[in-house]
Amino acid sequence: MVTKFPLLFATALSLVQLARSAILTAPEQVAASKQYDFIIVGAGTAGCVIAARLTEDPSVKVLLIEAGVSDNGTQSDTINVPLLAGSGIGTMFDWNYTTTAQAGLNGRLIDYPRGFVLGGSSSINGMIYARGSSEEYDRLANVSGDAAWSWNNLKKYILKNERHTPPWNNRSNVGEYDPRVHGNGPLLTGLTPTVFEADKRVIRMTEDLPNQYPFNLDLNSGNGLGFGWLHTTVGDSARSTSASAYLHPALNSRSNLDLLLHTQVTRLVSTLGNHTFKGVQVAQSATAANYSFTAKKEVILSAGSVGTPHLLMLSGIGPSQQLQSVGIPPILDLPDVGANLQDQSILTLQWAVNGTTLSGFFSDPTAFGAALAQYAVNETGIAAGNTVVNTIGFMRWPNNSPVLTARDPAAGPNSPHFQFSFLETFYPNVGQVAPTTGNWLSVSVVVQSPTSHGSLNITSPSPFVHPTINPAFYTTLFDIRTAIHAIRTLISLLATPAWDGFILEPFLAVAALSTDDEIEAYIRTFADSLKHPTSTAKISKTTDTGGVVGPDLLVKGATGLRIVDASVLPSAVAGFPQAEVYIVAERAADLIKSAWSLT
Ligand SMILES: Cc1cc2nc3c(=O)[nH]c(=O)nc-3n(C[C@H](O)[C@H](O)[C@H](O)COP(=O)(O)OP(=O)(O)OC[C@H]3O[C@@H](n4cnc5c(N)ncnc54)[C@H](O)[C@@H]3O)c2cc1C
Ligand SMILES: *[C@@H]1O[C@H](CO)[C@@H](O)[C@H](O)[C@H]1NC(C)=O
Ligand SMILES: *[C@@H]1O[C@H](CO)[C@@H](O)[C@H](O)[C@H]1NC(C)=O
Ligand SMILES: *[C@@H]1O[C@H](CO)[C@@H](O)[C@H](O)[C@H]1NC(C)=O
Ligand SMILES: *[C@@H]1O[C@H](CO)[C@@H](O)[C@H](O)[C@H]1NC(C)=O
Ligand SMILES: *[C@@H]1O[C@H](CO)[C@@H](O)[C@H](O)[C@H]1NC(C)=O
Ligand SMILES: *[C@@H]1O[C@H](CO)[C@@H](O)[C@H](O)[C@H]1NC(C)=O
Ligand SMILES: *[C@@H]1O[C@H](CO)[C@@H](O)[C@H](O)[C@H]1NC(C)=O
Ligand SMILES: *[C@@H]1O[C@H](CO)[C@@H](O)[C@H](O)[C@H]1NC(C)=O
Ligand SMILES: *[C@@H]1O[C@H](CO)[C@@H](O)[C@H](O)[C@H]1NC(C)=O
Repeated sequence: MVTKFPLLFATALSLVQLARSAILTAPEQVAASKQYDFIIVGAGTAGCVIAARLTEDPSVKVLLIEAGVSDNGTQSDTINVPLLAGSGIGTMFDWNYTTTAQAGLNGRLIDYPRGFVLGGSSSINGMIYARGSSEEYDRLANVSGDAAWSWNNLKKYILKNERHTPPWNNRSNVGEYDPRVHGNGPLLTGLTPTVFEADKRVIRMTEDLPNQYPFNLDLNSGNGLGFGWLHTTVGDSARSTSASAYLHPALNSRSNLDLLLHTQVTRLVSTLGNHTFKGVQVAQSATAANYSFTAKKEVILSAGSVGTPHLLMLSGIGPSQQLQSVGIPPILDLPDVGANLQDQSILTLQWAVNGTTLSGFFSDPTAFGAALAQYAVNETGIAAGNTVVNTIGFMRWPNNSPVLTARDPAAGPNSPHFQFSFLETFYPNVGQVAPTTGNWLSVSVVVQSPTSHGSLNITSPSPFVHPTINPAFYTTLFDIRTAIHAIRTLISLLATPAWDGFILEPFLAVAALSTDDEIEAYIRTFADSLKHPTSTAKISKTTDTGGVVGPDLLVKGATGLRIVDASVLPSAVAGFPQAEVYIVAERAADLIKSAWSLT
């Protein structure tokens, strides 16, 4: 493993620590006399944004509590080095959840990673930054009855979050993105340093057949359809996370933010005996002592689509009967807590190709090691940028398709039903083994607008027992028909002239696909989670009886409790979720500031 900072620099950093916020590693270190205005649960994607924005007002005191570990130390290369994206899964940085047996996937159990580290899932995710269609945000405005959530009204927050940066080699990205739709925020994004043959073919295809496969200059412009270049959360040759972009700069420069690590919030406490939830109980393990802290103004729940509904239910907030059945006294009946779990699925198809992809690199430990060694020297080379996927395409069923007559689940007529990513190597599905020879292209197929909705259920009053997670993949006809249609579309797309001389032959399992039944069997055998759960504490109008939070993200029927994370999103997203989580968090920070007249 490479070490990112020279030792000297690390020593200098620890001296600087004296002048900055407190970083605490056990609840007993929190000074008993200390009064906090806000307590934020979870230093993840959204939580770090809220912590950083609220502490811009020097009069405000914030306690940020994170169950997981810090993102420093030697292990953190798995977070920082772009080439290692994905390798945080199943490590100390992961909660290691698993789904229930998936009826739609031949009864398989699916690994369900979630970040257990500063930055949360932004520190272990696939780094893709794609905001989705403008209709996605207009749907959020519609569902919540608050026009301030629309694309046009959110633009200020979109630009406040993100900044486009050049790749490490300064390759020109002119013509590959639209600088006008990028902002000046702390989160760094960028395009690929290396163009592969498959990327050129994708672009050529959009030139050959612009009506079928249109080129999209920037998938972050609000135009959510077509093929184009992917932005990833990589800048300055490293992964940019909510922690690196928001949290660490705030910790380093302010004294009004305290961070408590390795500590799980186990219960929200109703301090006034009514539905005011400004207290939190915490513990470091099932057997460790309990501690309690109280916020003067608000508790902000940013524990993510799994952590947030779990903690609500542990606290008696949720479907009363279900809580009662596991021995939790119900306090506030909110049937939609844990309901409506939506996730997107992914599977890949592979082809042998005529040309050099990264297959050789990934199957050669010497080359891989050399890339990491070069990165350690000067943060250059193949390890320093996004490597595996550069181009992507978002597509729809034709508008007159019978499958859409009952209801179109996409965010609108310009939003996708399915998506392809072009991967520069043999990307095996669960249970498959990558061939050790040859050059391979994999294309992933994602159902972007699933109608299968599952749930998250509590099974124990112990905060340290995982809830059951059931995304209910492929339990609707729409989802299976969409995936079959997507696979057929992909196979015909790769047979267009742009791919001549490049695509050699399909991998065995792909070559065997012919009938719908065969394709369906392939889907049920290989589909995995894309790790995009949402909607387990969904937003709704103030006047709606359903939903968990109102348009201001305050928990319905409670006082002093707000939710800011992916759990509030009403549906699986039209793009990739992290961009939308950042955008929602930026506006939420302003909502909180204005509710308490902060600067
Ligand atoms: C492996 C993987 C790959 C992904 N790839 C992409 C991608 O390429 N592009 C994309 O846009 N999205 C991707 N996603 C999804 C995206 O990262 C998430 O949707 C997003 O980061 C969620 O943000 P959040 O703030 O809701 O939750 P998180 O970022 O998960 O933050 C929740 C935080 O709360 C903490 N926490 C939870 N419970 C408690 C508790 N009780 N007490 C204290 N702390 C607690 C957690 O440890 C965590 O730090 C991926 C996700 C994963 C896991
Ligand atoms: C990482 O951060 C934790 C918490 O701040 C600190 O205790 C630890 O010493 C740090 N480790 C390294 C290697 O810097
Ligand atoms: C997740 O699993 C890995 C590998 O077993 C382990 O090291 C890590 O501690 C686990 N994470 C948590 C939060 O327990
Ligand atoms: C929400 O969408 C419905 C149906 O398209 C429309 O009638 C309604 O006016 C929209 N509401 C808002 C607040 O945008
Ligand atoms: C890229 O440009 C930056 C800023 O001009 C410069 O510092 C850096 O050395 C350049 N890198 C390469 C590999 O050309
Ligand atoms: C609980 O009591 C406080 C103090 O009287 C009040 O401000 C708050 O609105 C009450 N909350 C609910 C949900 O009734
Ligand atoms: C902590 O509190 C919980 C109830 O919220 C209780 O079940 C548990 O025993 C307590 N732990 C200790 C060590 O007292
Ligand atoms: C799980 O939660 C869902 C949604 O709240 C509910 O419909 C279902 O009955 C629950 N299952 C169990 C076993 O409690
Ligand atoms: C970085 O290091 C590699 C390997 O030592 C070397 O080949 C390369 O020229 C260096 N690049 C820069 C920009 O210093
Ligand atoms: C492979 O590509 C080369 C050109 O790069 C071409 O000459 C050759 O015909 C291709 N082979 C096949 C089997 O298409």
